Amino acid sequence: MKDEIKKFAVLGHPISHSLSPQIHLLFAREFSINLGYEKFDTKQDDFLERIKSLKDEGYYGLNITLPLKFSAFQICDELSERSSLCKSVNTLTFLGKNIIGDSTDGRGLINDLSYKKIDIKGKNIFLVGSGGAANGAIYDLIQSKPKKIFLTNRTFTKAIEMKKYWKFFAEKNQVILETIDLDFSKKLYFDLIINATSSSLTTQHSPLQEHAFNCLNDEGACYDMMYGSQTPFMREAYKKTNSVYDGLGMLVEQAAVSFNIWHQLAPATENVRTALKNL
Ligand SMILES: NC(=O)c1ccc[n+]([C@@H]2O[C@H](COP(=O)([O-])OP(=O)(O)OC[C@H]3O[C@@H](n4cnc5c(N)ncnc54)[C@H](OP(=O)(O)O)[C@@H]3O)[C@@H](O)[C@H]2O)c1
Repeated sequence: MKDEIKKFAVLGHPISHSLSPQIHLLFAREFSINLGYEKFDTKQDDFLERIKSLKDEGYYGLNITLPLKFSAFQICDELSERSSLCKSVNTLTFLGKNIIGDSTDGRGLINDLSYKKIDIKGKNIFLVGSGGAANGAIYDLIQSKPKKIFLTNRTFTKAIEMKKYWKFFAEKNQVILETIDLDFSKKLYFDLIINATSSSLTTQHSPLQEHAFNCLNDEGACYDMMYGSQTPFMREAYKKTNSVYDGLGMLVEQAAVSFNIWHQLAPATENVRTALKNL
C-alpha cells in the first residue's frame, strides 16, 4: 500500500443508501491505493459550508448526488463541456484553490449499455423523464449518434423545453430530437426505452403503459436508471421482452469514470458489479 491516504466523500440527501464508498474502495483495492471514502448527509442549505470545510480538511475529491448536482455545477471554477451543457456536476476535484467539475452519469450509462452489448448508433431511443438524470445523460446519448431520440415527460412542457435546449447540440451531431406525449397513439419504433424518471419512488404504476412497450423492436431493450429492486417500469417491460435492465451497472460505471478522473486509472467493473448484486 502506498502511504498517503487520499480522502474522498459523497454528499447528498438522503445519503445513507449510497453505495459509492463500497464501489470506490473496491476499485482502490485493485491498484493498492490507500483511500478513504465517506458519506455526508448534506442538505441544500449546508452545501457551501460543507464544501469549504472538506476542502480545508484536504479532501481530494467529492461525488455529488441528489439533490445537489445543480448546486455543485454552480460553484465550480472549471467545468467540462459536458457538465457545462448538462448543468450538472457529480464529480468535484479540489486542485489548489480551484474546484473542477465534471458529470460522469452519461458516460456511466453509455459504458453500461456497451457492457450489455446494446449498440445505439443509428437507433431510435425513447427517453422518459426531463429531470436531472435525463438531462445529465442526453449529452452522451447524442454523442453516441443514435438516429432519433424521442423525449417525453409527465409535465410535458419540460420535455418541450428539453428539446429546445438540446436541439443545437443534437443537430451538430446529426441526431433528431422529437417530443411525444406519454400516451401517444402514433405507431412508432424504439430500439431502446430508458426510464429516467423517479416515478418508482412514489407510485406502483409504470410511467409508460403497454402501448409504448408494444413499439419496442423485437431486438429492443428497456433500461431503468433506478436500481435496488424491480420497478413497475421493469415489470411492464418484461411483458414485452427479456432485455430489461436496472441502473446498477450505470452506477458502477459512472463511479469508474469518477475514479479515472481522480486517479488516472481505469478500474475493472465486473467484480464490483457482482459484489454489489450480492450485498
Ligand atoms: N443509476 C444511476 O447511476 C443513476 C444516476 C442518476 C439518476 N438515477 C436515478 O434517476 C432517477 C431520476 O433522477 P433525477 O435526478 O432526474 O430526478 P429529478 O430531477 O427529480 O426528476 C424526476 C423526473 O421523474 C419524473 N417523475 C417523478 N415522478 C413521476 C411519476 N409518478 N410519473 C412519471 N414521472 C415522474 C419527473 O417528472 P415531472 O417533471 O413531471 O415532475 C422528472 O422528469 C432517480 O430515481 C435516480 O435515482 C440513477
